[in-house]
Amino acid sequence: MIEEIYKASEHRYENGMQFRRSGRSGILLPELSLGMWQNFGETSPLDRSKEILRFAFDHGITSFDLANNYGPGYGTAEETFGYVFEKSFRPYRDEMFIASKAGYDMWPGPYGNWGSRKYLMASINQSLKRTKLDYFDIFYSHRYDPETPLEETLQALVDIVRMGKALYIGISRWPLDALKFAFEYLGERDTPCLLFQDRLNLIDRHVENSGILECVKNSGCGFIGFSPLAQGVLTNRYLKGIPNDSRAVQQRFLKTSQINETLVENVRKLNEIAAQRGQTLAQMALSWVLAHQGVTSLIVGCSSTAQLNDSLQAVKSKDFTAEELRDIDDIASNIKL
Ligand SMILES: NC(=O)c1ccc[n+]([C@@H]2O[C@H](COP(=O)([O-])OP(=O)(O)OC[C@H]3O[C@@H](n4cnc5c(N)ncnc54)[C@H](OP(=O)(O)O)[C@@H]3O)[C@@H](O)[C@H]2O)c1
Repeated sequence: MIEEIYKASEHRYENGMQFRRSGRSGILLPELSLGMWQNFGETSPLDRSKEILRFAFDHGITSFDLANNYGPGYGTAEETFGYVFEKSFRPYRDEMFIASKAGYDMWPGPYGNWGSRKYLMASINQSLKRTKLDYFDIFYSHRYDPETPLEETLQALVDIVRMGKALYIGISRWPLDALKFAFEYLGERDTPCLLFQDRLNLIDRHVENSGILECVKNSGCGFIGFSPLAQGVLTNRYLKGIPNDSRAVQQRFLKTSQINETLVENVRKLNEIAAQRGQTLAQMALSWVLAHQGVTSLIVGCSSTAQLNDSLQAVKSKDFTAEELRDIDDIASNIKL
């Protein structure tokens, strides 16, 4: 079957998406980025993945977040992206900001995991092949490696930029002390860290409480938050039971045992506040993170264009009253995942 030719919406930058500067840099990112951790691998319908990716770009989402191990099926989310890139996105490459990462278990043996130069260099080459890209806009160390000297990991990232395989460097989920070291090391080599990536949502506020967010902001680095919807918990997804097609049913990173009565009761209370604000719960959860100082973009996941369309409306209403914030804090503090 011959596939129809994709032409991006002429209104892609007029659909309400707003852009924020990433730290002290020339890069503007959309308030919402699309993440391909789940739902874009070999177990998901390719047509649906293609539809979501196109819908995202048509609505001002220029930023796409990948990693070598995203799928499920390691490497298969990158393959999906490569397929869509080749068929639809290639003419728009210069309008896109595409990320990949290495740091987690990817291939067998001692060189397919953690933070060695050997692993990072091999991994980015593989990721470029799978995505059919000539370069990534940003390449991240996906996690802190307590065994490899930080200088080795960081120098590999610097060299990746110098070799033209990525334009910028990012760091994900490093602890504060290692992050401070990284900012200094990278700054001294004229390849400052563009983005720090970590989880931030109504339930998980560790980057706020540990001083990481503040340090990132003060260092002139951008912050991009992942799992802003707590993998779907902070949406209407589980308010009436556990749907068969939901992430919890897959029992991987979110388990049905975590969706207990107390959790649902508190999520319902948050849903009521959202309704009073004229938002869905997903929209309120996203607005809440976007209201934080120092946040550049949020990486949302989704399993349909309808979900993404719903999430996109969050950018319209980012003001909260002091009373709303207090009530949200009280309720969210009772939710444990
Ligand atoms: N650096 C890291 O270590 C790291 C770790 C995790 C994630 N990430 C990045 O962050 C991205 C996002 O993570 P995430 O997928 O956990 O994000 P999330 O946005 O918190 O959760 C996405 C899930 O929420 C549900 N959902 C989304 N929009 C909805 C809506 N409007 N209404 C109802 N339900 C909705 C869907 O669940 P169903 O699938 O059940 O429909 C969707 O799969 C990843 O793809 C990845 O790029 C990075």
